[in-house]
Amino acid sequence: MLKLFNNFNLLQYNSFGIDVNAKYFVEFTTEQDLIDYLSKNLNLVNENSLLIIGGGTNILFTKNYNGILFHSLIDKLEVISEDDNSILLKVGGGILWEHFVEYAVINNYQGIENLSLIPGNVGSSAVQNIGAYGVEAKDCIELVECIDLNNNTKYFFSNEECKFDYRHSIFKEKKNLLITFVRFRLNKNTRKINLDYGELKKQFANHLNPCIKDIRDTIINIRENKLPNYKKVGNAGSFFKNPIIYDEKYNALKLKFPEIVAYPFSNDSIKLAAGWLIEACGWKGKVIGNVGVYEKQALVIFNKGQATGKEILDFSQLIINSVFDKFQIILEPEVIIE
Ligand code: EPU
Repeated sequence: MLKLFNNFNLLQYNSFGIDVNAKYFVEFTTEQDLIDYLSKNLNLVNENSLLIIGGGTNILFTKNYNGILFHSLIDKLEVISEDDNSILLKVGGGILWEHFVEYAVINNYQGIENLSLIPGNVGSSAVQNIGAYGVEAKDCIELVECIDLNNNTKYFFSNEECKFDYRHSIFKEKKNLLITFVRFRLNKNTRKINLDYGELKKQFANHLNPCIKDIRDTIINIRENKLPNYKKVGNAGSFFKNPIIYDEKYNALKLKFPEIVAYPFSNDSIKLAAGWLIEACGWKGKVIGNVGVYEKQALVIFNKGQATGKEILDFSQLIINSVFDKFQIILEPEVIIE
């Protein structure tokens, strides 16, 4: 089924809770519906700007969207193959990521349990290469299926072709590619768990043989304690990316700010905890007008209820400015600004 709307209100479609409209809104439940729509409307699609949203949990609208917004509800999940060690699943891009993680853990398929409770959809997990607690979506993605909205052609991208990086993939550059399915290879050996992340390791220090359900429960608990629920308070998780800087710059910063928090990234660069930088500038818990920095995690900017996208963007710029003034580091938004 495919639904078409003009001047469609996006309040329920973005987790920041911004009240804007899309000029055209196209929503579909199967890949074939999308293909049929494109075959009849390719001219309209090529004449307009295009935007694809998943859960709308990583986007900040600063104005009405004056183009066509595509929203996938493809929710088919099928087993492609399996053996004693692993299973290959083809998962609809419109499925809620959290539902897929829950399904995997219930069935004892290991690999994505550390990504529990991340908002958004399966399609977005590949666009954004979502990551948390030592795991990234790319670790389990084998193939991405998509439709090029400009020529109505289907393409397959192998893991390598997706050019995954920290919160990045080829789909962030090629905005005309709509992900219809993602194929994940998950492990059947549930003894293989990932406790690389410091905070997680600490929690399991005295736990013998944790299973993936234990990991999932713990992560849900950590996230619920640390991050605001967007159904209650408008937000989009981390507003900024953790900046990656060369070792030389880091060593100089470390001399000046011995407490600075950083993690190894590559052989000549490190990833700084942006939350620490923002907190060190005095922003944690600070509210200006309708916008604030969450009191338990400085990377999260929230909407007190009535903020416009522009107010949130201006607020984020104040944070960027003060982090630059103190550390000469330029923070980059993790959320997509439209
Ligand atoms: N920190 C502070 N103050 C803060 C926040 C963090 O000092 O207000 C320091 C602390 O030392 C803390 C460290 O930063 O130990 C790391 O904090 P946290 O474990 O919360 O992780 P993060 O680096 O701030 C990233 C992701 C999160 C993900 C967590 C857990 C990014 C941009 N964010 O945050 O992802 O949940 O790691 O793995 O990489 C998201 O993308 O929306 C998101 C929430």
